[in-house]
Amino acid sequence: PKDSALRGKTVVVTAGPTREKIDGVRFLSNYSSGKMGFAIAADAARRGAVVRLVTGPVNLPTPPGVERLDVESAEQMLAAARPLFDGCDLFIGAAAVADYRPEAPVEGKIKKNAAEMELHLVRNPDILATFATGRKPGQLAVGFALETAGGVEYARKKLVDKQLDLVAFNIYDGRTSGFEVDTNALTLLGRDGSVTELPLLPKEEAAGKLLDAIEPLLRR
Ligand code: C5P
Repeated sequence: PKDSALRGKTVVVTAGPTREKIDGVRFLSNYSSGKMGFAIAADAARRGAVVRLVTGPVNLPTPPGVERLDVESAEQMLAAARPLFDGCDLFIGAAAVADYRPEAPVEGKIKKNAAEMELHLVRNPDILATFATGRKPGQLAVGFALETAGGVEYARKKLVDKQLDLVAFNIYDGRTSGFEVDTNALTLLGRDGSVTELPLLPKEEAAGKLLDAIEPLLRR
C-alpha cells in the first residue's frame, strides 16, 4: 500500500524462542515457532518499511526484503538488537525470550552421576523493556503478552511496567492460539486505554491487524 505510515520507517522485530545453554549439548527453551514475529516482519516490509528481524532458532524462511540476524540466547539477542535501537522508529518484541538462564553453563557434557541435580538459574535481560525505557521521543515500543489464564489485567500491567505504546495479548490454550500454531486471537491494548478484540485469525492476518493499529501511532 502506497499510503502506509510504515513506508520508509525503520522497524526492528524480535522473534522466536531463545536457547539458554545448560552444557555443551543441552539447553532450556520454549515452544515458540517464530511464526508471529516473521509474519509481522514480512508485512512491515510489504508496507515499505526497512525491517530488521532478530530471531532465535526457528525453522522459517526469511521474508522477502527483510534483514535477518540469527541468535541463540537472550543475551545474544540483546547484543544483536541493541545497536539497532538507535535509528529505529518502531520496536516490536515478538520473541519468547527465556526469562531465566543457567548461571554457569558447563563446557562439554554433564555426566549423570548423582540421583538428583540442581540447576541454578538467573534472570535474563528484558530486551523490550531495555529498548522502551531507553528510547528517544517518537520511537514506538510494542510488545506481546502471552498468558495461559488471568488475561487482560496482566497484559495491561505489562503495558504500564514496560512503558509500551501497545500490547498484543494472546491466550495460550495450546491449540488455536499462542505457540506453534498458525492462528492467533489477539486483544490489542493501547496506552490510551483502548481495547480491540480481534477474532481468531491466521498469524499473517493477525500481523496485518496489529500493524494497522500501529500505523496511526506512527503518523503522530
Ligand atoms: O514479561 P513478559 O515476558 O511476559 O513480556 C513479554 C514481552 O516482552 C514480549 O513482547 C517479549 O518479546 C518481551 N520480552 C523481552 N525480553 C525478555 C522478556 C520478554 O523482550 N527477557
